[in-house]
Amino acid sequence: MERAGVSHDTDSLAAEIASSGLPPEAGSAEVVVRELDENGSYIKHRLSSADAAPDYRSRRIKSFVVREGRLTAGQEHALTSFWKDYGIDYENRLLDLPAVFGRKAPLALEIGFGMGKSLVEMAARDPGRDFIGIEVHTPGVGACIMGAHEAGLTNLRVIHYDAVDVLGNMIPDGAIDRLQLYFPDPWHKARHNKRRLVKPEFLDLVIPKLASGGVIHMATDWEPYAEQMLEVQRADARIVNMDPAGGYAPRPDYRPLTKFEARGQRLGHGVWDLLFRKI
Ligand SMILES: C[S@@+](CC[C@H](N)C(=O)[O-])C[C@H]1O[C@@H](n2cnc3c(N)ncnc32)[C@H](O)[C@@H]1O
Repeated sequence: MERAGVSHDTDSLAAEIASSGLPPEAGSAEVVVRELDENGSYIKHRLSSADAAPDYRSRRIKSFVVREGRLTAGQEHALTSFWKDYGIDYENRLLDLPAVFGRKAPLALEIGFGMGKSLVEMAARDPGRDFIGIEVHTPGVGACIMGAHEAGLTNLRVIHYDAVDVLGNMIPDGAIDRLQLYFPDPWHKARHNKRRLVKPEFLDLVIPKLASGGVIHMATDWEPYAEQMLEVQRADARIVNMDPAGGYAPRPDYRPLTKFEARGQRLGHGVWDLLFRKI
């Protein structure tokens, strides 16, 4: 089903696909949406239920829909040639982290790294720490692997899958020293708010995976979502706000500006960082 001339309201189309409930084998819940890129040209995204959710039969509401986008030659090359160095295949069993990295080091896990530029930068600047990035957007995974290869990183791995499943099935309890969630999809419209990642069930998934003293670091440029992040975390007795005033924190030096954030800044958006520590 193609909808020509659709506006760049991807939120509602994305939600339409994600809630279609079709099993993957039906493969027909597919629309092409068009949105304007930075140069004013149209980009096409194909949204499909089959791509959106490998385990689509589960009734869980997804925090994303996969936009196919264009895979550049470089991204494709990185995916085929360097997946063996940087990729971790999704499996329904716990990772042996010392075996993955060949050492024991503090672990930062980032959910939804986008194109991975800031994640690669962080890993390059902090060689004593290991990083795992999780992303569902294929061009982003390719771009991140390409960046990691160009930088010669040995402390970064990526998983191309839904972070909710990865956290639930692959990450051992107490393994994460810092959970990074930067500019998660804000799902602006009230009827789509339920797709937001940050809610009490998300903390139930994340907190057991944090080491004692481990940190949850979130950032967003959408104020109502920042308020939700603050409220949900404040209400959880297992974590404490690291900001002495109990509010938002200044951006720590270790977090570079992300691609999404830079775009927001150009549009005049504010940014809110939140840092909570596991007790
Ligand atoms: C708004 S973008 C922000 C990207 C990047 N953090 C930045 O600041 O530029 C949110 C990203 O989260 C990814 N995402 C959303 N839900 C996810 C999930 N459950 N698992 C993995 N990635 C997810 C999306 O594919 C998208 O690339």
